Amino acid sequence: MNAQDLIETAKMLVADNKGLLAIDESNPTCNKRFAKLGIPQTEEARRAYRELIITTPGLGEYISGAILYDETIRQQKQDGTPFIQVITEAGIIPGIKVDMGAKAMAGHPGEKITEGLDGLRDRLQEYFQMGARFAKWRAVIAIGDRIPSQGCIEANAHALARYAALCQEAGLVPIVEPEVLMDGAHTLDQCSEVTEEVLQTVFNQLYTQRVMQSGMILKPNMVLPGLTCSQQESVDEVADATVNCLLRNVPAAVPGIAFLSGGQSGELASARLNAMNFRFKARSPWALTFSFGRAIQQPALDIWQGKEANISKAQQALLHRAKCNWAARRGEYNAAMEGKGV
Ligand code: 13P
Repeated sequence: MNAQDLIETAKMLVADNKGLLAIDESNPTCNKRFAKLGIPQTEEARRAYRELIITTPGLGEYISGAILYDETIRQQKQDGTPFIQVITEAGIIPGIKVDMGAKAMAGHPGEKITEGLDGLRDRLQEYFQMGARFAKWRAVIAIGDRIPSQGCIEANAHALARYAALCQEAGLVPIVEPEVLMDGAHTLDQCSEVTEEVLQTVFNQLYTQRVMQSGMILKPNMVLPGLTCSQQESVDEVADATVNCLLRNVPAAVPGIAFLSGGQSGELASARLNAMNFRFKARSPWALTFSFGRAIQQPALDIWQGKEANISKAQQALLHRAKCNWAARRGEYNAAMEGKGV
């Protein structure tokens, strides 16, 4: 591993107010989203959709890195140009999801453990040779009746740390993603407590596994009330709860915190990220940025509907969301940006 290269890549991923675009849905997840819109669930449809995204004119002005899936990183444009080349030429750093999914955890009803460590060293080497410079692994923590358990938090944190160490060995910046889910009726305070415990456990394990903090990116959830909780805090309250939780638990050596959207609407995710930067940017030790999937892509997918005639409109919608989040990184996003095509 070349430590300086890792540090440089991590810095580039959070530079210039840009953020990450997650287009790493597994085939089953991508198919589920296609099915809802009546789009055929085929390899060709997935390829065409990803081609639409990565060829969006101007995307590199707002997006620093794109997280791909194993199928996608091997695909080409219709004219034969490899996707990796298209992304790199757009000034975007290619990344790759390397976990093998969250599976039911033995002895822990309602909880999941993310798999994928076996053979990971070889897979990382291949991805590096293909041109990837960063990777992602997602752990899932649910809040519910007597969960999360310590067993679930510890096992997931340990796997994240071993993944991150292997990434750095291979020259890939690890995106460390412990996602506390929004599903449920829990309060914002409960989410904050669970997020705090998860982050402490994750950073403890990262330290134990000798992961270099300056060569990684944290991808956490925002601290939010559960989707069905009767009390839904304001944008500013969410921003305060989130950044205060992170300030207590994330070392200053980490260059960036890139939030997942987790099912929030695009506008709400932008507004909350904006409030965090507006209120905390001047004293935040890390960049507060985005690594959104649905909160950037969903409007584009809804418009595309699998039809060639809709490609250009879908690309405009994608670029709009990317630009809104770029503005949110500077604390300059506002509701007036919506609906005007920016
Ligand atoms: P969402 O922003 O849609 O949650 O996706 C981000 C991601 O990469 C989940 O692993």
